[in-house]
Amino acid sequence: MKSIKFAVVAGALALGLAACSGGGAGSSSGSGDESADPSDQTIGVAMPTETSERWIADGNAVKSQLEDAGYTVDLQYAADDIPTQSQQIDQMITKGVDLLIVASIDGTALANQLQAAADAGIPVIAYDRLINGTENVDFYVTFDNYNVGVQQATSLLVGLGLMNADGSEGTATGPFNVELFAGSLDDNNAHFFFQGAMDTLQPFIDDGTIVVKSGQTDIEQVATLRWLQETAQKRMEDLLTSSYSDGSKVDGVLSPYDGISRGIITALQNAGYGDSIEAGLPIVTGQDAEIASVKLINDGVQFSTIFKDTRKLAEQAVTSAESFLQGDEPEANDTETYDNGVKVVPSYLLESDIVYQDNIQSLLIDSGYWTEDQVASGQA
Ligand code: GAL
Repeated sequence: MKSIKFAVVAGALALGLAACSGGGAGSSSGSGDESADPSDQTIGVAMPTETSERWIADGNAVKSQLEDAGYTVDLQYAADDIPTQSQQIDQMITKGVDLLIVASIDGTALANQLQAAADAGIPVIAYDRLINGTENVDFYVTFDNYNVGVQQATSLLVGLGLMNADGSEGTATGPFNVELFAGSLDDNNAHFFFQGAMDTLQPFIDDGTIVVKSGQTDIEQVATLRWLQETAQKRMEDLLTSSYSDGSKVDGVLSPYDGISRGIITALQNAGYGDSIEAGLPIVTGQDAEIASVKLINDGVQFSTIFKDTRKLAEQAVTSAESFLQGDEPEANDTETYDNGVKVVPSYLLESDIVYQDNIQSLLIDSGYWTEDQVASGQA
């Protein structure tokens, strides 16, 4: 089974490459040279939104690394608007970019654009978010998204005292009231994060150590369209009214992304849970190590986040892009996990880390991701 899957992937990749070397050359200033000079080549980079600082960091990192390698870069943000992103990609194709790097808004909405890209021989790399329902996505660079979910749930268990940071059993016994949040259903990652988290939490829910008082445990019930902070804040407010007006308290909240975490924390603070974990706030998890949330973790307000080094992701995207443009195959380290409904997309997965208050220094400051001043101010 494994080898059949691998053969299919290798075949798809070979097709993509054949298409790429033909059209890529034709579209690069008419040089006609397959491994054209980077200075003759333009790469279109489509990012979802500038409202989340995570994507700004990604866009900057991809652009600067590509420019350092000599390429011209057309970087566009789409304000989380699906038609805008489709148009931006259409325009990049019309202008004759040599390769596309796409972090989609709705992973199912780009099939037409990617067909046009394939017709023009433009290779497509899905950036962090898989593009579904099309054979015309050639490669995927991302993190181990299932494991991100496992890490989110693990940090929740650590915060509640049910587990120690080294994975051993904690001393707390519960029961604890926990509410669950997931990301945007049209983002493939949201499903991986939630699955990884639920597989980790389920045994604790089954034996009654963790109680989801609202009863909302299906991803459809707990999802947050477009990952919006305000939407999460509103849902948390509603949960407090519907399930906690009997005097019971929320002890923990599984949050899949820092923006969502900040919405949840605001709702809890407004409802009188206090300004910090010490003063009564529940354990709230997160993702992306956004600077506003790193400050909250440093200040004892948010409990944890997941650090995904966007510099490394950008580096991987650039390495993969260079492989395609030189007529090679990018190196995949996963050829089984990411089935987009039409094919298994060869992927390169990076690892992530759990950030707690006591490792902000070693993970984020010592690595140069954020400075001490940024952590103190909460501003990038
Ligand atoms: C996901 C991404 C997360 C987070 C979220 C909201 O696709 O993997 O890291 O950024 O989008 O932007």
